[in-house]
Amino acid sequence: MKVAVIMGGISSERDVSLNSGREVYNNLNRNKYEVIKIVIDNKKDVFTKITDDIDFAFIVLHGKFGEDGCIQSVLEAMDIPYSGCGPLTSGLCMDKNIAKTLLKQANLPTADWLVVKSVDEIDYNKIEEIGYPVFIKPNSGGSSVATFFVHSKEEVCEAVKKGLEFDNCVMIEKYIPGGEYTSFVLNGEVFPTISIKSPTEFFDYEAKYSSNGAHEEVVYLEEELQNKINEISKTCWDIFNCKAYVRVDIIISNNVPYVLELNTLPGMTQTSLIPRSAKANGVDFSELLDKIIEYSLN
Ligand code: DAL
Ligand code: MG
Repeated sequence: MKVAVIMGGISSERDVSLNSGREVYNNLNRNKYEVIKIVIDNKKDVFTKITDDIDFAFIVLHGKFGEDGCIQSVLEAMDIPYSGCGPLTSGLCMDKNIAKTLLKQANLPTADWLVVKSVDEIDYNKIEEIGYPVFIKPNSGGSSVATFFVHSKEEVCEAVKKGLEFDNCVMIEKYIPGGEYTSFVLNGEVFPTISIKSPTEFFDYEAKYSSNGAHEEVVYLEEELQNKINEISKTCWDIFNCKAYVRVDIIISNNVPYVLELNTLPGMTQTSLIPRSAKANGVDFSELLDKIIEYSLN
């Protein structure tokens, strides 16, 4: 079986993707697969570099064009099986505003928010109702790129402007004080929860990717809370109609798990969150890649 690992891409998370892609490329089992690497540098590359002779596309792109359903749609049209969620699920999860609307409709706790498409749309009274501090971030962003922890009215406009450099829509979201966690779901099965302890004010780009960044480990939570997380993760899986795998990011405040977002193409280096969670259940990195391929082909 010829597997193409697709990495790079045109989003602000390109560098993260190249790291994830390299690890996936290096760890796919060569006894099972012939593996090639495809680096996407611009949109047209999907037509010139992805050829008909591959049996499976392992997508390790993050963010716009890679995680939002675009490349998934191209692969559907080419009839090439690929890893992870389909175009609709990918698009819904990438758009944080739509995703949170669906979470709210399903009665899953998620922080209050609003979105703006220009600085003229900023409604300071509404932000006041939400209450400071707030997070301001590109609506379809990832890896906390251009995400700002904003404590006062005076900082809002600048943060929105910076967010608008990355997206045509910016989210202003209530800060929920509490611990950050993540829940990995593989083929509908919820894996061990990971706790994230960041040395920085929040789990920002630096904390995510620098060697002295956040401390991430599997946690053993009190049963009732763990059950709640598992139930919420499973509900997320169902309402977004996920396939193969997804990572659900959560803040726990006063024993209530608030869903931050779903990541349909989460980071995939060996020390990334989901390989860590899989390992805690005895599934090593190569085996995890096997399972993702297997469940994606189902
Ligand atoms: N967006 C990054 C890659 C993640 O969710 O892990
Ligand atoms: Mg994300």
